Amino acid sequence: MSSEQNEIILAIETSCDETAAAVVKGGKKLLSNVVATQMDIHKKFGGVVPEVASRHHIEQITMVIEQALDEAGMTINEVDAVAVTEGPGLVGALLVGVNAAKALAYAHHKPVIGVHHIAGHIYANRLEKDFEFPLMSLVVSGGHTELIYMEQHGEYEVIGETRDDAAGEAYDKVAKALGLPYPGGPEIDRLAQIGKDTYQFPRSYLEEGSYDFSFSGLKTAVINKLHHLKQKGAEVDTENIATSFQASVIDVLVDKTYQAAIDYGVKQLIIAGGVSANRTLRDRMSERFKDTNIDLMIPPLYLCTDNAAMIGAAASVEYHKQNFASLNLNANPGLTIE
Ligand code: KG4
Ligand code: ZN
Repeated sequence: MSSEQNEIILAIETSCDETAAAVVKGGKKLLSNVVATQMDIHKKFGGVVPEVASRHHIEQITMVIEQALDEAGMTINEVDAVAVTEGPGLVGALLVGVNAAKALAYAHHKPVIGVHHIAGHIYANRLEKDFEFPLMSLVVSGGHTELIYMEQHGEYEVIGETRDDAAGEAYDKVAKALGLPYPGGPEIDRLAQIGKDTYQFPRSYLEEGSYDFSFSGLKTAVINKLHHLKQKGAEVDTENIATSFQASVIDVLVDKTYQAAIDYGVKQLIIAGGVSANRTLRDRMSERFKDTNIDLMIPPLYLCTDNAAMIGAAASVEYHKQNFASLNLNANPGLTIE
């Protein structure tokens, strides 16, 4: 067993379409990080097919865990706890990770830690630099768009969230309407660097003072514009559509996040989740926070999308609270963070 602050956690993540395992030391040091992506398989269907995802997780999980331990130069005996994403996510996909974690923990007499997927996305940043409280986190992924306020480790207050589509979901749906491959976020991001904001789609700020988001109106505006252009036989300028759509999403994300960070007087602002890989979001956030006393943390690209290192980093906090799960731990697709 390792010293008090340097616990070794083997972490597993299978909530969507990446089968991932990692070994993390003391919540901050990455010893290995293995991600087997199924993206190319789901591309053929234009999105993640839950049953297909579960089957691939089952095929990959043992190898991915073995590789994570190998790359960390460890055996399971040197691990202090096994952590796993408990939810939210696809139930069949989550179950593969949860059962693998419980089986390993039971066989080797290790405690199990259940981790919230979004807590993981936030804690991905701690692998780069330590947190300073209070902090605000903008979580933008395929399933979530949330502003989360934290006063201390492991305590999360959701102060704003999407009322309909998540930001990543809007990216993926608009990309599909444009005939771009899944996942649409990176494709739109690439095209948006070339085009211009010629369409001026709506920006949804909702009522005064609200930190909530709404992207379905924007998504519908883009899809209606595409139908309209096609009906008229007019040419669709994919690059300008991408730039215009992205400008609307990013304007709202940056403005609301900035306002929330100021209103709550935070020391740090963290961006997390798959959409935080977006170039324009990263640039615009850096620009907006440049002249403030708020420390902006943007994760490196390999920590933006789903991985298990982030689960290990979030689990460290629970490890120190001795917040261990029983072997009844179950996948919880609707798990809340608060
Ligand atoms: O966090 P993540 O890997 O999985 C979930 O927990 O949902 O996020 C995936 C989402 C997808 O919707 C994908 O299109 C989006 O992140 N994404 C991006 C970019 N890279 C990934 N969205 C916009 N720009 C990007 N560069
Ligand atoms: Zn995610």
